[in-house]
Amino acid sequence: MKICPSVEEIRATVAGFRQVGESVGLVTTMGALHEGHLSLMRRAREGHDRVVATIFVNPTQFGEVADLAHYPSDDARDIDLLQDEGVDALFLPTVETIYPPGDETIVETIELANKLHGKVRPGHFRGVATVVARLFNICQPDAAYFGEKDYQQLQVIKRMVRDLHFPLEVVGVATVREADGLAMSSRNVRLTPEDRTAAVVLNQSLSAAEALVADGTTVDALKSEIRSIIRSEPRAVLRAVDVVAAESLDAIDGPVTEKIAIMLSAEFGSVLLIDQREITP
Ligand code: PAJ
Repeated sequence: MKICPSVEEIRATVAGFRQVGESVGLVTTMGALHEGHLSLMRRAREGHDRVVATIFVNPTQFGEVADLAHYPSDDARDIDLLQDEGVDALFLPTVETIYPPGDETIVETIELANKLHGKVRPGHFRGVATVVARLFNICQPDAAYFGEKDYQQLQVIKRMVRDLHFPLEVVGVATVREADGLAMSSRNVRLTPEDRTAAVVLNQSLSAAEALVADGTTVDALKSEIRSIIRSEPRAVLRAVDVVAAESLDAIDGPVTEKIAIMLSAEFGSVLLIDQREITP
């Protein structure tokens, strides 16, 4: 695997692939890799001759300095994992490479970025869109793979790519879960053992919601079922339950008749976890 710290090196590497007619799939990450990330690498491998990964803990998407400071990081371990997966090239830039001195350009999906999780974390999706636009411009892939776990992020990126006419396809990949159903996340290592056990309640409430939708239900009934399941777990502090139209993420009410996304966030100790499910009635 070619490790490229600079824009010039990753561009030359990708140009080399292209010169011989090879297609390129991109997976952007913040490191602390787990099976969820690796499933994106595998999907990229299925669709392309070459897989390029990026590891960059993006400061502009963290609201609180403490959250950024606590973000887990182990480049040596991540590099081993990517090598084992057969990833062809890794872009591993510094903050100054991505945000050169005097930097002042942002990308923002104005509506999509500032609803739901974006309301709770102002500026977060602007930071995500800004860094992903730069990574796309630098790496110039044919397609980029994103997890459905970060559902709003996936919709933000799809909208940005459409609106700015980026010449690439954005592919959503299903959430990879632990054996008990907890969505894999780099944040999970920060949970205490008790909170780790309790956190399974998120997925349980989504499964109950899915069963309700299958039988026919309303948005209000869905929300109250989810709330009561999560509140039955005393360690969980529920932050948000949103039932929205898939893709537009517009709030809906009344009977569930169209494809929806349920988006949850809850705190376990000091760790904010999110989970989501897309459900078609
Ligand atoms: P990060 O949290 O490292 O996630 C990188 C990619 O892995 C994202 O597309 C995310 O949705 C996906 N992912 C995370 N957990 C997953 C799981 N359990 N199953 C499937 N996919 C999963 O998301 C980011 O980084 C950043 O915001 C980034 C897009 C890199 C921009 O900085």
